[in-house]
Amino acid sequence: MKILAIETSCDETAVAVVEDGRKILSSVIASQIEEHKLYGGVVPEIASRRHVEVISKLTKEAFRIANLTIDDIDAVAVTAAPGLIGALLVGVNFAKGLAMRYNKPLIPVHHLRSHVAANYICYPNLEPPFLSLIVSGGHTHIVSVKSYTDYEVIGCTRDDAAGECLDKSARTLGLSYPGGVNLDNISKDGDPTKYKMPHPKVDGSPYDFSFSGLKTFVINTIHNNEQKGETVDVADMGAAVINAVVDCLTDNVSKAAKELGITKIVLSGGVSANSVLRERFATLCKEEGFELYMPELSLCGDNAAMVGAQAFYEYKAGNLAKIDLNARATMPINEEF
Ligand code: KG4
Ligand code: ZN
Repeated sequence: MKILAIETSCDETAVAVVEDGRKILSSVIASQIEEHKLYGGVVPEIASRRHVEVISKLTKEAFRIANLTIDDIDAVAVTAAPGLIGALLVGVNFAKGLAMRYNKPLIPVHHLRSHVAANYICYPNLEPPFLSLIVSGGHTHIVSVKSYTDYEVIGCTRDDAAGECLDKSARTLGLSYPGGVNLDNISKDGDPTKYKMPHPKVDGSPYDFSFSGLKTFVINTIHNNEQKGETVDVADMGAAVINAVVDCLTDNVSKAAKELGITKIVLSGGVSANSVLRERFATLCKEEGFELYMPELSLCGDNAAMVGAQAFYEYKAGNLAKIDLNARATMPINEEF
């Protein structure tokens, strides 16, 4: 089954053709990073406008690379939630138009489910059940993936996402957008012990996270040092905050996996590209005897191939969109459209 997949949930316009949920026939991405960099973060209005401008061209490009036409496609899939509402609406409306005009089934895909599904492309034999840590710019979840379409949230952040904490720390350290990857690169030789960081825990909820206090601590420490005329070592501060975030993530996932007796750990989302996170999970899983799966770097961030992968399983489960499909800015991962 060949699925045309469309992703416009944030600042990347992406289109892909994916076969049977596992094989990429084409995958193209138009990034808007250069423009949002001017503002230090994503400007939703600009993101929507750019999606409108490039989506048709990008779809043609995806067909050209796959050497297919719309007649070869069995279904159209689109990220319909969660994300920036104006941005999502561009993809949803475009996909609806195609599905109606060419009489194809329309498959709505949850953005976080698709992040998890990026791993189905990288690991052809990976199947649920497993435990997934989903770490992106807006979400931090520990999810028990019971089947391709059945999820139980075991823990999540009570406030900021891990990506938000890293992005704002990077911005305060003077690094340009997108902060997470720049912080990762600049901190490679940093000393994570030079600055002591809080390791926030949520009382009574061992699998939940709280990153807003850590974010505020970093911002205040940088500002206090500046006021005293002291220079902050960017590499050391970056290494300290990344390690504090990764400590929290590894601790909670390890506890959850042991408690639930799940031995397959699957990382997903943009922050799973982080080099320290990947190394630390590799060590943890080796020590504990867990199997570790993490997407290749090109599939960690937003892309449409992962949407096509998840869409295949949504289709098999009968989760198709009705013609009044709308986009949603927020939506729990265990809810259906
Ligand atoms: O999944 P994603 O591409 O978009 C959302 O759904 O939010 O995740 C974006 C997040 C941003 O916070 C970005 O800074 C972070 O992923 N990120 C990283 C790295 N690459 C991307 N964070 C830390 N280290 C990286 N190498
Ligand atoms: Zn994402």
